[in-house]
Amino acid sequence: MNEPLLEAVAKYLVSPGRGILAADESTASANKRFALVNVEQTEENRRLYREILITTPESKRILSGIIFYDETFWQSTKEGKPFKEYCAEAGILPGIKVDEGLVDLPGFPGEKITKGLDGLPERLAKYRDAGAKFAKWRSVIAIGEGIPSDNLIGANAFILARYARLCQDYDIVPIVEPEVLFDGTHTIEECEAVMVRVYDMLFTFLKEYRVYLPGVILKTSMVIPGKDGGREMVVADVALRTVRTLHDHVPHELGGVVFLSGGQTPLQAFSNLNAIAKAGPHPWGVTFSFSRALQDPVLKYWAEHRDDIQGAMSIFAHQLKSVVDARDGNLDTTSLGGDFVSGSQDL
Ligand code: G3H
Repeated sequence: MNEPLLEAVAKYLVSPGRGILAADESTASANKRFALVNVEQTEENRRLYREILITTPESKRILSGIIFYDETFWQSTKEGKPFKEYCAEAGILPGIKVDEGLVDLPGFPGEKITKGLDGLPERLAKYRDAGAKFAKWRSVIAIGEGIPSDNLIGANAFILARYARLCQDYDIVPIVEPEVLFDGTHTIEECEAVMVRVYDMLFTFLKEYRVYLPGVILKTSMVIPGKDGGREMVVADVALRTVRTLHDHVPHELGGVVFLSGGQTPLQAFSNLNAIAKAGPHPWGVTFSFSRALQDPVLKYWAEHRDDIQGAMSIFAHQLKSVVDARDGNLDTTSLGGDFVSGSQDL
């Protein structure tokens, strides 16, 4: 394990003025989003849409990394340059989602664990040799009647720790993502209590399995009320609880912290990130690793104006400039409207 390399990559990913684009939707998820806006679900359309995001000029300045799914990791621009090479030359680190999705946890109705440890060493070697600098593994924790169980939280923490240590043995920075779902009717207090349990268990396991914490990125949900309970999301409360939970339960020697958007509208996700940034200083670099909050307005526009690639790129550039302002605590929310407010949580 090359500790200085891992630490340098982790620091770069969360460096000031930058953040990560999650473009690692599986083929099934990408197709689902395309279907909702009536875009044909072909490999070429998935490639073309990702090319718009990757080659938007502002991506170079603002993105520290892009997380790819296997299909996109091996794809190229229309000129034939592999995306991962285009990114490396642009200062955008290529990353790869390596988990293989969710399966039921037997005996625990409503709870799911993540699969993909089998064959992981071989896949990591292949991705590393092809230029991947970091990886992502997503586990999912739902809040509901009697859940999450300690068993589910523990099983996920164990798997995340094994994945993380394996990545580091291949000089790949692991992003560990225990996503606490936005779905549900829970209160913000319940969300905070669950996140405390999740972080405590996760970092116990990471330490026990000899993971080098300065070479790890935590990808986390924000502390927010469930989206189905009709509760108002108050930005100041979200920031206070998110920051409190992170500062008190995440080791300060960690490499960095990034947020997923989880189905929040762009306005919600960006405003919350802005307030979290303002509540600093934080012990680590803190930035975004959004998929939907960054991409939804772009996909919607492109679906309706398929020949206007420049137009789609302008929308993505606007998303990037706004999110990076939020990352630095300088977001002017009055300049946001339209898709920012309505978002497209259903995409
Ligand atoms: O694993 C989740 C994705 O990387 C982030 O997606 O921002 O739409 O939640 P999201």
